[in-house]
Order: sequence, then structure tokens, then C-alpha cells
Amino acid sequence: MEIAFNDVSFHYKKGNVRGEKVLKGLNLEFKERRCYLLTGPCGSGKTTLALLLKGLLLPASGKILLKNDSISLSSFQRSIGLAFQSPEEQFFKETVEEEVAFGPTMLKLNRIEERVKGGLNTTGLLYEKFSRSSPFALSSGEQRRLAIASIIACEPSWYIFDEPTAGLDLEGRSKIIELIKNLMKEKKTVIIISQELERFIDLCDEIIVLEKGRLKLKTDTRTFLEEEKLDEIEHSLPYHIKVLRILRKRGWDIPVSITDPQEAADIIADYEL
Ligand SMILES: Nc1ncnc2c1ncn2[C@@H]1O[C@H](COP(=O)(O)OP(=O)(O)O)[C@@H](O)[C@H]1O
Ligand SMILES: [Mg+2]
Repeated sequence: MEIAFNDVSFHYKKGNVRGEKVLKGLNLEFKERRCYLLTGPCGSGKTTLALLLKGLLLPASGKILLKNDSISLSSFQRSIGLAFQSPEEQFFKETVEEEVAFGPTMLKLNRIEERVKGGLNTTGLLYEKFSRSSPFALSSGEQRRLAIASIIACEPSWYIFDEPTAGLDLEGRSKIIELIKNLMKEKKTVIIISQELERFIDLCDEIIVLEKGRLKLKTDTRTFLEEEKLDEIEHSLPYHIKVLRILRKRGWDIPVSITDPQEAADIIADYEL
């Protein structure tokens, strides 16, 4: 299964007037069971790309193609779980339980109660404790997890997380990252949209960088880290990779595409000067 953007452009409409193009001739594909990090500055078009992928917006020109014969593009897009940038704005049910049950009920899925419990427990919002709470009474970290629980309850195989850790405290962030890691263990396809490269780089197979609506880079994580042109995003690299890069610039013959900090520490400790 693969979904491809074929020369896709998009502009929002301002009244009847065509706005400026926010995505320009994008060509890229997403393959199943991989984890992608979609990054780029604010306003570069990341959220717009997610909405097109999910089918909530349609390309102004170009095509989105699904390479699979057994399911239509629109049913596939409906099945994608998209966690919005500000999910808390979208809650409208009175209790956590009803909120999580809404998605699977709309999709006419079976085992609703089991799904609700599963979704909540997976995200660490224990069913017994939270099911009767109002979504609006939760902390922002809990609200983010509630939004994700609502998606997990639909058991999609593709997930898009739009800025999943923005505005969360350390504990909230670690919980979300743990959750994404678990989805990857279950061989789900995950697209993470974030400017916080250092939090996600070690999870991802591929990095996609947008700039002003254009594809600036799409490459596997290893190649990305081996590239010498990383200077402009140097500040957002994980600390251990910065150290490896500094040492390599000083002549150490070491790899820099190490995503595990402990492995980096071992390489440095074992290096023969
Ligand atoms: N609903 C909208 N109407 C008009 N313009 C929009 C809308 N949403 C986003 N934009 C514009 O589209 C561009 C890309 O936005 P967005 O996809 O949200 O970028 P990112 O997620 O990378 O910050 C920005 O210039 C933004 O101002
Ligand atoms: Mg965005």
C-alpha cells in the first residue's frame, strides 16, 4: 500500500478569490509500515498537506493516487486517523467515554465499548478514572491523549499526528512519544508533523522537509544525518548528534547518523585517539 502525491498544488480560497499557492507541485509518496517526520518552518504547508492526505481538502491541481486495487482512495482516506494540531477545540461530547465512542459509532464499527476502553487505556487515560469526566475538565496533556484515544478506538492502520507534543510538559510529551513508539511496534504507518526534530528523529525512517509549500528534502533518516548540509537546522538536532558532528568536523572518523544516544556515547568512549 502506498499513497502518492503527483504534482499536487493547493491554494485556499479567500471568498471567491484564489489565495496564494500554499503547496506547489508536490511529488512524494508514503509507504505503509513506515514512520515519517514531516517538518519545516511555520506556514510551510505541513498541516495543509495532512488535510489533503486525509481527504479533507482536495488538490487544486495534480493528483493523489492510491496504489492499491482493493480499496478506493476516499475510503482509505476516511480510515486514516488524523490527530489535529488543536484537538481540544473539537471536543463536543459531555463525557470522555462519549467522545471516544463517537468516531467508531460514526464509522459503524462493532465492539464500541471494547474500543473505547482500549483507546483510553492505551493512551494512559484509565477508563475507570476518566470515562465520566468532561473532556473540558482535563489538562492539556490529557486532552491531547483523549484526542488520540478517539482515533485509536477506530483502529486505523495509518496515523497522522499534527504537532503532537506542542505545548505539553515533559511528562505529557513522553507519554505521547511512548504511544507513538507502541504504534510503530504494531507495524502501523505513522506520519508525525513537528518542528521538534530532536524529539522524533530517532523514531522516524524518513524525513520530509517542506519550505514555502515546496518539497525541500525527502530522505531516509540515516542519509539525512550523514548530510553535511544540516547547518541550518543544527540547532534542532539531538544533542548527541551535535556532539558527533563536532567531533567529525575535528577529524574523528565516526558515523553521525546514530539515533540512540547511548550508542553515540559508546562510540565516543571506545574511540582510539
Ligand atoms: N484556512 C486557511 N485559509 C487561508 N489560508 C490558510 C488557511 N490555513 C492555512 N493557511 C495558510 O497556508 C499556509 C500554510 O499553512 P499550514 O499548512 O497551516 O502550514 P504549517 O502547518 O506548516 O504551519 C500559511 O501561509 C497559512 O497562513
Ligand atoms: Mg501546522
